[in-house]
Amino acid sequence: MLAVTWESERKALLIAAQAMATRGLVAGTSGNLSMRLGHGLYLVTPTSTPYDTMTEADLVVVNGELEPVDSDGVPSSESLVHIAIYRARPDLTAVVHTHSVYASAAAAAGVTIPPILDEVVVQIGGAIECAEYGPPGSEELAIKAAKALGDRRAVLLRNHGAVGAGRSPAEALDVCTLVERVAQTFFFAQLAGGAKPLPVEVIEAERAIYRMRSGLKP
Ligand code: 13P
Repeated sequence: MLAVTWESERKALLIAAQAMATRGLVAGTSGNLSMRLGHGLYLVTPTSTPYDTMTEADLVVVNGELEPVDSDGVPSSESLVHIAIYRARPDLTAVVHTHSVYASAAAAAGVTIPPILDEVVVQIGGAIECAEYGPPGSEELAIKAAKALGDRRAVLLRNHGAVGAGRSPAEALDVCTLVERVAQTFFFAQLAGGAKPLPVEVIEAERAIYRMRSGLKP
C-alpha cells in the first residue's frame, strides 16, 4: 500500500471540480478534471459522479496506463485526453474539461476562436483552436486534442466541449472560465459587425509575455 495520500492535491482538485459546477461550466456529471502528481501518477475525477456530493476519497490516482493505484475507483472516461496533454506539455500540472455553452457552440460549429482580446493571448497563448473530431474516450481524440493545443492553454474538442490547462487546478479552471467568456464575446462581436483579431505584431509581443510567464522557452 502506498504511504502517500496526496491530501493537499485531492483538496485542490475537489475545490476546482465543485467550482466548475457552480460556475455553470458543466451540467450534471459532465466534465472532468485532473492533476499531475509526479512519478508517472495522476489524480483524476471519477466517472459519472455528481460534483456536489463528490469527496476527496472519490478522486482516483492512476498510472500512465489508467490503472487505479490505491482504490477501486473508475477514473473519468476522458482520462486519455488529460494524459496526452501531460505527456506533450511538461509545463502543465492540471487539466479541466468542460461542456460550457458558448465554447461548445463554437466546437459544434468547428470554429477556432481567433485572438480577439489581449487576455486571450497573454493568458491562453493565442487562438483557441478547434481540434479535429475524435470519438469520446478514444486515443484518437486524445492525440488530436494535444496536437491542437500546441503550446497554448486551451483547445476546443470538435462537437464536444472545451479543455483548459494550467499549473494548478484553480489556474486550469480559470482558463476554462476565460474560454467561455471569450467564446461568448466572439459570438457577440460577430453579430456586431465581425470579430477582428489583434494585429500580428501585438499577438507576437503578447505571446512572448505568455511564454515567459508560462516558463516556456522564448
Ligand atoms: P466522465 O464522467 O467519464 O468524466 O465523462 C464526462 C464527460 O464530460 C465526457 O466528455
